Amino acid sequence: VDKQKVDVLISSSVWDPKPWVEGLSKSELVGEIHVWPTQADLTNVEALFVWKPLESGVISLMPNLKWISSLGAGVDHLMTDPQIPANIPITRIVDPFLARDMTNYVIMGLIMHQRSMLSHLNNQKSKIWKRLTYNPLKVGVMGLGALGSHLAKKLVNLGFEVFGYSRTLKSIDGVSCFDESGQKEFLSHAEVLVNLLPVTPQTINILNEQVFRSLPEGAYLINVARGNHLVEKDLINALNNRWLSGALLDVFWEEPLPQSNPLWEHSKVTITPHVASVTTPNSAIALLLDNLKRLQENRELLHTVDLSKGY
Ligand code: NAP
Ligand code: GLV
Repeated sequence: VDKQKVDVLISSSVWDPKPWVEGLSKSELVGEIHVWPTQADLTNVEALFVWKPLESGVISLMPNLKWISSLGAGVDHLMTDPQIPANIPITRIVDPFLARDMTNYVIMGLIMHQRSMLSHLNNQKSKIWKRLTYNPLKVGVMGLGALGSHLAKKLVNLGFEVFGYSRTLKSIDGVSCFDESGQKEFLSHAEVLVNLLPVTPQTINILNEQVFRSLPEGAYLINVARGNHLVEKDLINALNNRWLSGALLDVFWEEPLPQSNPLWEHSKVTITPHVASVTTPNSAIALLLDNLKRLQENRELLHTVDLSKGY
């Protein structure tokens, strides 16, 4: 056995593991590639690549595990999993395609809302010629990390007035930035609120009645981060009493969204099935291999998660 090669386990129950196996198998750095579920002996596995959920007990089968990478941007699925050890590095995907695709999705939702596109589609069904007006919009981006900052910059270029919110105060050309001390003011500008925060104990349920009440009347919500950010009943109330004009939701507390969930049938809600931005395997594999080389050379890994912050 070539000592240099690293055995890996891929666990991704929602995504097809095939492109990941194919891409990784082309590398000289990679030894055996296991895909969960498997009966194989995992004693020599040193790297775990995981998209949620990871079956309970899997970690204990890998006594030589040295590194875990999420296959997506989010690591909430790992942070809340009690089997994840505290003493090995966890990394995540930070990737230009992921940022591009997220930005494009949000721009789609934003402009569909601004231009009343759903009303035009409905009117077309009844051959109704009705000229609906539109206004410039102020957009609030919550979370100015890899994805939020990319979005904020593109929105400035498209001519939107952009406001940003993050834990530590940022400085981005053309964007009015706020931290927690300025949360109220940030929200008061956000005619469209885009959520790109990670889920942490501080941000869970952050999209709640109090926040909705702080937005301008008739504001529109785009939640592309995680379902756990949103208090669904508060959203439904805010839509029903017209405080909010609508919402585009890509992520949910429970996925797939259960048939019984009232969001499915709400006339002001547009739903997509967690597809706002899906990791491009070939691009992400280059990052995984870069990190794998770093692991072998005992160098610091890229895009590690700060366990104390939880993202
Ligand atoms: P990131 O680079 O870690 O950025 C997170 C941002 O949120 C940072 O600006 C951070 O502030 C801010 N933040 C964290 N905690 C906060 C708090 N308590 N109050 C205010 N701001 C806070 O993450 P990312 O790569 O941009 O990804 C963001 C999230 O998008 C992921 O966690 C994932 O859940 C979601 N996502 C969804 C999809 C989809 O298809 N729907 C795809 C990809 C990602 P600092 O800058 O001060 O640290
Ligand atoms: C997708 O939701 C991701 O976190 O990459």
